[in-house]
Amino acid sequence: MNKYNFSAGPARLHPSVIKKANESIINYQDSGMSILEISHRSKEYKEMMEKLKINLTKLFNIPDNYFILFLQGGATYQNSFLSYNYGVENNVGCLVTGEWSKKTHQDFRLVRETESINIDHSKIEELLSKDNSQYFKDLDYLHVTSNETINGIQIRDFKNIKHPSLIVDMSSDIGSYKFDWDNLRYIYGGAQKNMGIPGVTICIGDETHLPKIDNPSYLNLKKLSDNDSVLNTPSTFSVYILYLVSEWMIKSGGVDFFETQSKKHSSLLYEQLETYSEKILLPISKFARSRSNIIFNFIDNSLEEEFLSEAEKHNIVGIQGHRSVGGIRISLYNAVDSEMVNYLSDFISRFFDKK
Ligand SMILES: Cc1ncc(COP(=O)(O)O)c(C=O)c1O
Repeated sequence: MNKYNFSAGPARLHPSVIKKANESIINYQDSGMSILEISHRSKEYKEMMEKLKINLTKLFNIPDNYFILFLQGGATYQNSFLSYNYGVENNVGCLVTGEWSKKTHQDFRLVRETESINIDHSKIEELLSKDNSQYFKDLDYLHVTSNETINGIQIRDFKNIKHPSLIVDMSSDIGSYKFDWDNLRYIYGGAQKNMGIPGVTICIGDETHLPKIDNPSYLNLKKLSDNDSVLNTPSTFSVYILYLVSEWMIKSGGVDFFETQSKKHSSLLYEQLETYSEKILLPISKFARSRSNIIFNFIDNSLEEEFLSEAEKHNIVGIQGHRSVGGIRISLYNAVDSEMVNYLSDFISRFFDKK
């Protein structure tokens, strides 16, 4: 391995995925063509997409009445897409827990009046431990961002959000824990963190809630779903990488494996970081801490630069906090393995022990 990549996304891919992608760029399954040249209407592409849907159904236990779509435009496009579909005839509100849900709310508001329920990370535990239905009672749909990638805040227990119809942005934690579909009507996530590379957004929704709005084509969820993700030319290579990642995830032991790994890696680092409380701040309250993105700030700001430059010398990359908040952010996505986490943890010990 050249670098220890803890980037928040695009993020590390498992080497076996890169190797297969590399082979397929030269010759896709002995077809005599590169994966890059294959038509989205070809037998090869259709077969691959069908296998991908079977893999996702297996990984996420997706019920029969849910559609699976591979769209473009990233999670950001979903902010417009969702408001022009679910938001036209329904009252959609946003649970705002951090920067990404704030952006979603801002975009929704440009299309129509949208209620926001703002909650500080320190109050999430209390909110989820009681009957919170009264906060959402006037809403047909509630948008939730399961993992706030910038702030390091995560909600995984959707059942404790007492609303029957959630729309969830799972961009930065899809595939890292199991969940039930009971109150999930639509979930989505850009692939470039746990599931692949930019260019494809995984969208999974309840057919019985499919809005029937006659929008122009790429804003028309019903039309996209009726056309099984090939209404127009999809991002074929990104979909192929998603397929390879889904194969690798199944071989590794499925979401069960990644959930165990994610708990192990995040608790190891949080516990270690807590021992340096004289030098750093872990800004997020314990209950709401993300297992995918660990955030901390130096009390003495000048140490941040030194930490980052020392890390780079040790081939540790991608740990600078988001440009809007600064600090350090360690992203522990599925392809980050124990060898990497142990290496980082040793580096952290050596750095702080010297201080
Ligand atoms: C939780 C979350 N939502 C939305 C986005 C925006 O995603 P995209 O860049 O694919 O539009 C990101 C990007 O990091 C994210 O982490």
